[in-house]
Amino acid sequence: MTVDNQQLSVRNLLGIKDITKQDIELIFETADTFKNVLDRPIKKVPSLREVTIANIFFENSTRTRLSFELAEKRLSADVINFAASSSSVSKGETLIDTVKNILAMRVDMVVMRHPHPGAAVFLSKHIGAQIVNAGDGAHEHPTQALLDAYSIRERYSDVSGKRVVIVGDIMHSRVALSNILCLQKLGAEVMVCGPTTLVPKYIQSLGVRVEHNLRNALNWCDVANMLRIQLERQDIKYFPSLREYTMLYGLNKQILDSLNKEITIMHPGPINRGVEITSDVADGHQSVILDQVENGVAIRMAVLYLLAGQQ
Ligand code: CP
Repeated sequence: MTVDNQQLSVRNLLGIKDITKQDIELIFETADTFKNVLDRPIKKVPSLREVTIANIFFENSTRTRLSFELAEKRLSADVINFAASSSSVSKGETLIDTVKNILAMRVDMVVMRHPHPGAAVFLSKHIGAQIVNAGDGAHEHPTQALLDAYSIRERYSDVSGKRVVIVGDIMHSRVALSNILCLQKLGAEVMVCGPTTLVPKYIQSLGVRVEHNLRNALNWCDVANMLRIQLERQDIKYFPSLREYTMLYGLNKQILDSLNKEITIMHPGPINRGVEITSDVADGHQSVILDQVENGVAIRMAVLYLLAGQQ
């Protein structure tokens, strides 16, 4: 399967900042083809049957890990999975030693999630296998941004000109940074909205709008991407209480219905129902949250397929 024999401009997918608009469009066109494959009774192609991929997760994950594994299996790759919590990392082994041991088993590609920003870049300088960053601390989560932008494209035909607000814990979010970079490359306007303490000062230098009032943000946007409060990355208190956060920044049906338009609601997951979003909104007709998850498999198939073509 080829899309006019086009290639990505990168050998690894470390972050959205490294790829071009043309790369993103190529990934989307390739994902369109794989979405068709996933609609068939036999949801599998032989494209990566000579490729071995290791999914190395040093941090918890549900969606990303399962989505990558399914994408790899749909492409007929050989797959091994590694979770740091049940490994010799707990006995003091370093990242490089762990990965080198896995690569000694003749692995071609590594999909890695790690709690430290820059871990994927660091690894790419020390090993020959190709690397896909599945989230590195509060830095980047490129495949999440790609599947989010792809879901917007699916809803509106085009991302260019759309107004997207990212709401919540911008400070600790790799999804926010990757989404900002991806959406801007595709010509969308981006706003961030949250309490002053959770919106880093540098964010304006990225060319995004900043709004601290949720209603103003919702009135402005076509799409609202609601983020979880990442309590596990917060070493101090950034707001008085979760209840107060929910009162000011939680999305509920009342505020949604009071807008004089319909907007699209997104969330990368995991959702904290009743905190940043109520259940009736998360499960309502304006939500594309499960479409995002479905699109994640096709996007990750496209990324792995295109990167394997660079070997
Ligand atoms: N969206 C996302 O990265 O979810 P997981 O942490 O479950 O992978």
